This record gives sequence, C-alpha cells and structure tokens, in this order.
Amino acid sequence: MHELTVRPRRAADLPALVEVLRAVHTQDGYPTVWPLDPAAWLDPPGLLRAWVAEASGVVVAHGALKDDVDGVRWVSRLFTDPAVRGSGAAGALLDVAVAANGPGLLLDVVDDASGAIGFYERRGWRLLERRAATWRDARGGSPLVRVYTAPVSGRGSGRP
Ligand SMILES: CC(C)(COP(=O)(O)OP(=O)(O)OC[C@H]1O[C@@H](n2cnc3c(N)ncnc32)[C@H](O)[C@@H]1OP(=O)(O)O)[C@@H](O)C(=O)NCCC(=O)NCCS
Repeated sequence: MHELTVRPRRAADLPALVEVLRAVHTQDGYPTVWPLDPAAWLDPPGLLRAWVAEASGVVVAHGALKDDVDGVRWVSRLFTDPAVRGSGAAGALLDVAVAANGPGLLLDVVDDASGAIGFYERRGWRLLERRAATWRDARGGSPLVRVYTAPVSGRGSGRP
C-alpha cells in the first residue's frame, strides 16, 4: 500500500468519488439506496467541510462534516474503496473531522453495519441511542440507525 495523504476535497474529485462510492454500494450496501444524483449526495445540505484520502494520487476514501438544522455537527459520507480497506484511510479522515470540530460531534450508522460499528467503537465513539432513520430504504421503511458521539478526550477518534 502506498502512503496515504488526506487533503480537502475539490470539485474535480467528484467523478472519481462517485466511482468509489459505486464500488462501496455494491460491496457494502452503503448508501442503502443508490442516489439518483450521487455527486449531489456527496454534497448534502449543511455540508461544512469534506476531505479525501489519496494513495499515489488516486482518491480512495472520503469523509465530511455537516451541520443539521439545529446546529449539531455530524460526520457524514465516510467510506473507503473496498480495494484499500484496512489501510487507515477512514481512521485518518475521522481524525481530521474530529480535529476540525472538537467535542460534541455525532455520527449515525445503520444498525446492521457491523463492520462500521466496530470501527467506530474501537475508536471510542459512544452509543447515544438507536432510532429510526430520517430517510427511507428501498421498501419505503425507516431503518434503525445508531447515533454515536465522539470520544471526549485525546485526539477524539483515537483509541479509548
Ligand atoms: C468503515 C470503513 C469506512 C472503514 O474504512 P477503512 O479505510 O478500511 O478504515 P481503517 O483502515 O481506518 O480501519 C479499518 C479497521 O479494519 C481493519 N482491517 C484490516 N484489514 C481490513 C480489511 N481488509 N477490510 C476492512 N478492514 C480491515 C483495520 O486494521 C482497522 O482495524 P481497527 O478498527 O482495529 O483499527 C469502510 O469499511 C467502509 O467504507 N465501509 C462501508 C461504508 C460505511 O459503512 N461507512 C460508514 C457509514 S456510517
């Protein structure tokens, strides 16, 4: 694996990110429903910052920070190309998002995403609640999501 670098996302990254997202959706079912406009999905309402991880100049992972209507900040749109899993890309992106925000950051994850749940919990994120998603799945239902809060000390997404 070549060295990873994390940098702010540029508009020119979007086509490559959509390709990565397509591979993630195919392998992991994330996002649950493939968006009609995946580039727009990468720019959700309230988007504050977005970053990519690159390996040898190729974009391999993405993460973002967004505000909701109540001013609460969320980690959002975090995913890594299935071909480079386990190389630390998402961990690095999570570190950047936490460092950019400080305490009080939240994220949500579907209740059956055991891989992502383990990833967050190993980094000290704490489960706040389970609740119905605000979006619909392909059958029109509202899947159960888990809401996590960032660790209160250290680098935030570092090990508890
Ligand atoms: C969850 C996800 C973002 C993690 O991405 P990643 O870049 O592989 O993350 P990292 O490399 O930083 O850490 C992955 C962990 O799995 C381990 N791992 C090792 N080999 C691995 C592999 N082949 N595949 C996956 N994970 C592996 C890593 O060592 C690391 O372990 P740790 O948590 O004990 O440190 C990625 O699996 C993903 O994109 N999942 C689908 C989308 C998703 O669910 N996103 C979250 C939405 S809330």
